Amino acid sequence: MSKDMLMWDETIFRNPEILELDHVPEYFAHRDSQLQSLKFTLRPAARGMRPLNCLISGPPGTGKTTAIKKVFAELQEHVKNVVFVKVNCQIDSTRFAVMAKIYENLLKVSPPSSGVSFGKVFQKVVNHLIASDKILVVALDDINYLFHEGHADEVMYSLLRAHEQYTGARIGVIAIVSDTGAMYKFDPRVGSVFLPEEIAFPRYEYGELQDIINNRVYHAFFPHVVPSEVQEKIVEYTDLTGDLRIGIDLLKRAGLNAERKASRTVSIEDVEKAYEASRLLHLCRSIVSLNEHEKTLLRLIAQGKDPQTGELYKEFHEITQLGYTRFYELVQKLNALQYIDADFSGKGMRGRTRIIKTRYNPADILHCLEK
Ligand SMILES: Nc1ncnc2c1ncn2[C@@H]1O[C@H](COP(=O)(O)OP(=O)(O)O)[C@@H](O)[C@H]1O
Ligand SMILES: [Mg+2]
Repeated sequence: MSKDMLMWDETIFRNPEILELDHVPEYFAHRDSQLQSLKFTLRPAARGMRPLNCLISGPPGTGKTTAIKKVFAELQEHVKNVVFVKVNCQIDSTRFAVMAKIYENLLKVSPPSSGVSFGKVFQKVVNHLIASDKILVVALDDINYLFHEGHADEVMYSLLRAHEQYTGARIGVIAIVSDTGAMYKFDPRVGSVFLPEEIAFPRYEYGELQDIINNRVYHAFFPHVVPSEVQEKIVEYTDLTGDLRIGIDLLKRAGLNAERKASRTVSIEDVEKAYEASRLLHLCRSIVSLNEHEKTLLRLIAQGKDPQTGELYKEFHEITQLGYTRFYELVQKLNALQYIDADFSGKGMRGRTRIIKTRYNPADILHCLEK
């Protein structure tokens, strides 16, 4: 056996847990101003005041969730009169589930699962806060997943108006929006009470990705396992989407690919193979955030339904009952979100697009739509 081969009980990973996506990294660079702003909005809570509300936005994989986790953990050490609760709205995706999560965090038991309304659970949350003289800070992470059927508006409205309804209630709200291109506006009722400090998490620049990935490689693998040109390849792939999650997932999968071959080093091919799996991760995650009508339209386009013969609109209309104006708006939206390329140059009737193609491999889109 060559010395380049791993023995069965050997590994190239020094600390594999560092490549898990829920790992909170010790090295969290290039986000100092965002961390400062976030702490600034929460500072009033330490003095017993209602904190400022906050709207955090940015593309996926730019450190939004990590920043919240870091700041909550740090502040919780110092302030005892404040309860910090982070709700993952992708998991708790209804108004009731969100409020139940907050209730659980505060009262350390779950609310009854049936026979109680959202309003009742909310009232108990507020009563508990007032009775225990505590301030609540709620981070609604990936609130996009609550945008359907007014769930987000109702949760926000209740939390933001609590102090008007119940004297002494002190609640601050941090809404975290992962913008995949789709814009969402809160109901005007919410807008008039939200008035948030806005904190943007822009895409990382190439050099920043290089730095962060370099640090991850150093901690996750033994020395000399990831050659510099291989690491550079991973940075390049990560930069295509700007999503650091892709980079970290690539490191893990490429490492596993190398180990499968009992290799002591990760090769470019290991990365290429891993990328096939990782890039779908990104596409699928953004497709999940589309609504049902948008998904239906995207599916028909990926299936190759022809816009020119009217086949595309006809089938869309049969499934959704929506008219041409709405159809045309959704085509424009999918175009703006860069799922499709639509050529609007066709003469004649408004919106008679001649060519509509998916920007991704149609099979990949259909794969994600099936999940
Ligand atoms: N500045 C950073 N330094 C180190 N790791 C980071 C940084 N920003 C993000 N990450 C890592 O990238 C992944 C995605 O970050 P996350 O906070 O979940 O992004 P978001 O919530 O914006 O989608 C996580 O595994 C996180 O550890
Ligand atoms: Mg997140």
